Amino acid sequence: MNTEVRYLSKSGNTKKVAEAISAAANCSAKPITENVNPDTDLLFVGGAVYAFGIDDELKAFISNLPADLKNAAVFSTTAVVESAYSRIKPLLEQKGIHVLSDEFHCRGAFKFVRKGRPNADDLARAEEFAREAVASVTQQSRG
Ligand SMILES: Cc1cc2nc3c(=O)[nH]c(=O)nc-3n(C[C@H](O)[C@H](O)[C@H](O)COP(=O)(O)O)c2cc1C
Repeated sequence: MNTEVRYLSKSGNTKKVAEAISAAANCSAKPITENVNPDTDLLFVGGAVYAFGIDDELKAFISNLPADLKNAAVFSTTAVVESAYSRIKPLLEQKGIHVLSDEFHCRGAFKFVRKGRPNADDLARAEEFAREAVASVTQQSRG
């Protein structure tokens, strides 16, 4: 199965999660400036919330994804608000991409709040999320 990980991370929190996911999914974590192979069976897409929204660059990345991409799994870090899933999922679905119902979210350090996050527990949970996402898409493709 072809798996890829793309993330947008301004201060490194989401990148840490992306690296944990890629280690568990046996692929490399790359920033959204790197193109996605159209043959990808499962794309992990990660971002954060900045000033109550997701970054325009992440929106543009999603709208430029290959048309025939099959599945995506969403991960995000935020300091205060709920995860970015509800913001990222509809953009992927507009492209006709199936979005896994399971997401990964953890807190990310910002100024004086959420110090040390993501922590080792967060990253262990991210690895577990990645293994389960890969297993579910593998099972689905076997029909
Ligand atoms: C400019 C800026 C604006 C932010 N705005 C919000 C916000 O509106 N709500 C929130 O929960 N966190 C907010 N945060 C915190 C980030 O979502 C959090 O630190 C996240 O983990 C950052 O991920 P990154 O390190 O991958 O960029 C903001 C952070 C920055 C730098």
